[in-house]
Amino acid sequence: MQYNFDKVIDRFHTASVKWDEQEKLFGQKDLLPLWVADMDFQLPAPVLEAMRARVDHGIFGYTERPESYYEAVIGWMQRRHGWQIQKEWICYCPGVVPALSYLVQSFTKPGEKVMIQPPVYPPFSGVVTANGREVVENPLKYEDGRLTMDFDDMRSKMDPDVKLFILCNPHNPGGRVWTREELTELGNICMENNVMVISDEIHGDLVLKGHTHIPFASISEEFAQHSIVCTAPSKTFNMAGLQTSNIIIANEEWRNAFQHTLNILSLRLTNTFGVVATESAYRYGDEWLDQLLEYLQGNLAFLTSFIESRIPKIKVVQPEATYLVWLDCRELGMDEKSLQRFLLTQAKVAVNQGYTFGQGGEQFIRLNIACPRSILEEGLKRIEQAVNSLQSVAN
Ligand SMILES: Cc1ncc(COP(=O)(O)O)c(C=O)c1O
Repeated sequence: MQYNFDKVIDRFHTASVKWDEQEKLFGQKDLLPLWVADMDFQLPAPVLEAMRARVDHGIFGYTERPESYYEAVIGWMQRRHGWQIQKEWICYCPGVVPALSYLVQSFTKPGEKVMIQPPVYPPFSGVVTANGREVVENPLKYEDGRLTMDFDDMRSKMDPDVKLFILCNPHNPGGRVWTREELTELGNICMENNVMVISDEIHGDLVLKGHTHIPFASISEEFAQHSIVCTAPSKTFNMAGLQTSNIIIANEEWRNAFQHTLNILSLRLTNTFGVVATESAYRYGDEWLDQLLEYLQGNLAFLTSFIESRIPKIKVVQPEATYLVWLDCRELGMDEKSLQRFLLTQAKVAVNQGYTFGQGGEQFIRLNIACPRSILEEGLKRIEQAVNSLQSVAN
């Protein structure tokens, strides 16, 4: 069937963080939300049908994950990523961010260190510091409009207190799909230093044309035994509210340790709708996802040509994956707080401010293009007008 991603769906009054919470969060009315990472699109039809059928049953008691759930997850990883996983490796968790926090608790002691690569998804540092552990930064390099890893810096910052490396694969906010060579070098450095790699692959299904996502643990048996891969259907199929993720752990000892932490928290059972939606999305969601990726590719092309021709002071960092676009706003000549105020009060758009992603994010913004093209166009026109009025004041 043909999906219509141009359809605008009113999301107000659905307790949506993206739409309903923004006035409270940003203190500003009439904002167009192009921020937090969820999409303004409905789920694939077979998923909605499966959920409706479950609603019609009318009883939502304690829910297990049936055998068919695991088969669907295994089938998806095999089909989409050529990655053969086993049922026992799959640990359920309500979300990837909670999983990251439980992993920090399971594998480090207070005061020990976790390495991350800013600018990166803010909860990476958040879960480390909230648990009383120390963040070690291995900043990405930004050269010629592209983010790359700095392996010399990574090596120089390894010490016996560094226990974990949290990798964002693909990368949010930069949209990089890390290559096999990059992942291999990173993995080798971590293994030489006895550092466990936690690879957050929540964006791994959202890969744009010409790029291939490589699950870190699929690189070799050795990498599988030295890593934990965090996956979820939530970004891919727009179901963050259903709170379901699958943490893939091939190493039995590590799996038991993580499971022990989940047991302490009594996190054994599952959200009823999370199970139904995940299973049906992983079984029947390919067609929808392929069409979504085409649409996102179109939105990216639209945004790129709009910005290049009409707001040339802003530079687009071309993403290779995700529906998040990292925009270099340094030529606007504002510090990060002025840029934030300007976008909220003059352009009236809500975006994610680059500085919140840590070092290297200052004067950048992250814009979410997973919306009907008409909404994206409206957001870009608002930014264009605000930038133009800035220039006419300067003249
Ligand atoms: C890299 C990354 N990890 C995790 C999450 C959120 O995961 P969850 O909603 O499962 O906690 C996001 C959401 O944007 C993300 O970008």
